[in-house]
Amino acid sequence: MTPTTTAALELEGVDMHYGYVRALDTIDFHVAQGEVVGLLGDNGAGKSTLLKIMSGAHRPTGGTLRVHGEKVEFHAPSDATHAGIQMVYQDLALVEALDIATNLNIGREILRPGIFGLLGFVDHRAQRRRSEGELDKLGVRTAAMTRPVEMLSGGQRQVVALARSATRLTGDASGVLLLDEPTAALGYEQTQQVQALIRRMADQGIAIVLVTHNLPLATAVCDRIAVLNRGRKVADIATKEAENDHLVGWITGSRPSMFS
Ligand SMILES: Nc1ncnc2c1ncn2[C@@H]1O[C@H](COP(=O)(O)OP(=O)(O)OP(=O)(O)O)[C@@H](O)[C@H]1O
Ligand SMILES: [Mg+2]
Repeated sequence: MTPTTTAALELEGVDMHYGYVRALDTIDFHVAQGEVVGLLGDNGAGKSTLLKIMSGAHRPTGGTLRVHGEKVEFHAPSDATHAGIQMVYQDLALVEALDIATNLNIGREILRPGIFGLLGFVDHRAQRRRSEGELDKLGVRTAAMTRPVEMLSGGQRQVVALARSATRLTGDASGVLLLDEPTAALGYEQTQQVQALIRRMADQGIAIVLVTHNLPLATAVCDRIAVLNRGRKVADIATKEAENDHLVGWITGSRPSMFS
């Protein structure tokens, strides 16, 4: 990040204790609009804990969060959502029996005009039109809007889940998207699809934090990579300056921290 831009999301000195376990130790972290930052680290390094703090699911024991420069305190995930931060919950959050358009519109349904709308009837045609427009804007092609999610492949579902979070970001380009291992269960081609979608969303100005164990994915899609090791940030480096074996060294702990 250049000094003239404000980070979309910034953490300063964030600590997290779970009882006696110190999951995070004075973490500084930021992501700018249009930037994809990879968060790497071995099992138990603290990646999910950090995302949970960013998404309002957990409150940090110490430290400060800022959204577009404003100090914030999240007491619940809804606080983070209101601040324009979306965490992608994978399969969990899609309703299998419902079609793509209905899934994309859960929680922001368009009601039919007049008395039917007052009675809570959904305007499915208007929802399909809106979702088609949004997916076009994201450059996403999955399947027909009327197809139930249970008839989609894993990759298509993942794309729908990602797209849904992307469309919910407030004010288009100012949002922050948090992804915890979005490709963990995906094959090669599906991973490529998700990778392309992440890149397109970033190109539209969305700030993205990507937790992954997939090093080739991280180096392919991320502008910058931060590495956690046992709750400490040991590296934070532009991807183009990061050598693969250095990243592996920081992940495993065989390479000393950039910051000590
Ligand atoms: N709810 C919790 N209660 C107690 N300890 C926890 C809790 N959640 C995580 N921890 C501990 O905090 C540390 C960091 O866990 P975290 O889930 O953030 O790791 P991670 O980097 O996401 O690992 P993985 O790659 O395996 O998903 C671990 O030591 C873990 O045991
Ligand atoms: Mg995790």
